[in-house]
Amino acid sequence: MCGIVAYIGAKQARPLLIEGLKRLEYRGYDSAGIAVLNGAVSVVRTVGRVSVLEDRLAESGDLKGSVGIAHTRWATHGEPAERNAHPHVDDRHGIALIHNGIIENYAALRTWLEEQGHTFTSETDTEVLTMLISELYDGDLEKAVQGALREVTGAYALAAICEKEPDTLVVARKGSPLMVGVGADEYIVASDASAIVAHTSRAVTLDDYQVCKLTRDSFRTSTLDNVAVTPRIQELELELEQIELGDYPHYMIKEIFEQPNSLRNTMRGRIDLREGRVVLGGVGQYARELVKARRFILLGQGTALHAAMIGEYLLEDLAKVPAEVEYSSEFRYRNPIIEEGTVIIAVSQSGETADTLSALHEAKERGALALGVVNVVGSSIARDTDAGVYLRVGPEIGVASTKAFTGQLSVLTLLSLFIARRRFMSVEQSSEILRTMERIPEMVERVLAESDQIRAVTERYCDRENWLFLGRGYNYPTALEGALKLKEISYIHAEGMPAAEMKHGPIALINHGMPVVFIANKGAQYEKVMSNIEEVRSRGGRVIAVATEGDTDIKRYAEDVFYIPEIPEALSPLLAVVPLQLMAYHAAVIRGHDVDKPRNLAKSVTVE
Ligand code: F6R
Repeated sequence: MCGIVAYIGAKQARPLLIEGLKRLEYRGYDSAGIAVLNGAVSVVRTVGRVSVLEDRLAESGDLKGSVGIAHTRWATHGEPAERNAHPHVDDRHGIALIHNGIIENYAALRTWLEEQGHTFTSETDTEVLTMLISELYDGDLEKAVQGALREVTGAYALAAICEKEPDTLVVARKGSPLMVGVGADEYIVASDASAIVAHTSRAVTLDDYQVCKLTRDSFRTSTLDNVAVTPRIQELELELEQIELGDYPHYMIKEIFEQPNSLRNTMRGRIDLREGRVVLGGVGQYARELVKARRFILLGQGTALHAAMIGEYLLEDLAKVPAEVEYSSEFRYRNPIIEEGTVIIAVSQSGETADTLSALHEAKERGALALGVVNVVGSSIARDTDAGVYLRVGPEIGVASTKAFTGQLSVLTLLSLFIARRRFMSVEQSSEILRTMERIPEMVERVLAESDQIRAVTERYCDRENWLFLGRGYNYPTALEGALKLKEISYIHAEGMPAAEMKHGPIALINHGMPVVFIANKGAQYEKVMSNIEEVRSRGGRVIAVATEGDTDIKRYAEDVFYIPEIPEALSPLLAVVPLQLMAYHAAVIRGHDVDKPRNLAKSVTVE
């Protein structure tokens, strides 16, 4: 959502902080700011990208000092404006604060702080927290932060400095990620490992309600009540090259092209062909509960929800167990019924999506066994679930999710087979599906090889402002995903729906030249999809079809065809989504948009 980076050590903080902000910019980018201690606290804030902040710093001269904090923001309270950008500085002691998350009781606190004589210059909850720390400050920043955090409700990851304590940095976390990179006589704190890994591979991930006080050569972690906690230093699994662009122009296309390898990583060591078994260490100890489960509820938002929708089909079709899927944002607030034998599956790339995290807590409180299908190791959802399966697709930096989606589909397929094989599925049947799965990375490579053709076709349509994406069965959620990808990065209005639903109303939208993308691979409903295509064509719609290799007939129905290798329906979304990802990417590039940082979006949404 927003990005935090902070430094204390012997080096100049500014270049390090700016480099860190650039690495975190994908998390939010409507404004940015930096504060450095050098006698006084010097602050520079700007609306817009980190590059704008850099330009401003160049104009305003060097910000010298070896203790500093920096932030890149995605607005929650208050419009993107300089006065609302972080860091916020108090009106008494020279305390500067950056903060991710939301302080829920900020309005009441603000009224009280105004009564105490504080003057506010922004609409943000972060400024309220800054003033609260200021109000409690009596010469000890760590104590003031602990005291303030005992008073607030909500979520936070924060970093604070104070000009009266020039050798101190205080950071804390609850519900929003924060890690402390431990270098040689220096510390780099960040909301995401990508801002740390260039400097050190050793880091401490703070737990909720923990505060960490750092000086230039030591640090201590404590609870909000100042009880010391022994920190656990871990090796970061991230390699620098994983977060570099390399020869690609954008992270999104890099990540689309990484899919053959990311899928290999997802499956590596998890398939036992001889026994037709799936090996999932993360859920092994709950195998009995999973086999006996009476119902699965899959939760997610956005792309993760679309993967979860396919997961519902997979669990019912392969494992023959009732499954349902729900927006995590809706689940929590409708008083859901969790009976004995209910297992919930939280699907999330970041593992930090607030809606999904809250839904997971609700389900656990009501007694459900909770599994996570998560990419980011050690993230909040990964930590708060009872067990889970990591995607292992590597860091996803492009805001539009691509390789995480195919990773989620593979994991949900493996999980369904893990259960199916233990319930009733034969070795032969399971082995056959697994053998096909092992060939998917090579099949994805074949689809990727069509990228230039997909670009050429996209170019012909991408001035159209309204598109439809239609599919049936397993590929109805794929259609939703295709529409989401297109709209979020190219700002074209696109709707996805089950192909049969079109004639119940949306068909009224179809006019001459409207692009309608059909996922029309060979499968049980192929003939019906052909009828739906006819309905569109006869009203002037232009049909672009994703079809099975060898299906030449479809050329009679569709203006343009993207072929995917022949594959059983249950696995087909893994291939069918790839041309849709490429179409969305090319459309955004052709229309001149910033593909990796689409307007109004942020990579991980840590507010409900
Ligand atoms: C779309 C996209 C979002 C996320 C959604 C959930 O490309 O990235 O729709 O899928 O915000 O995020 P995670 O998977 O991190 O829970």
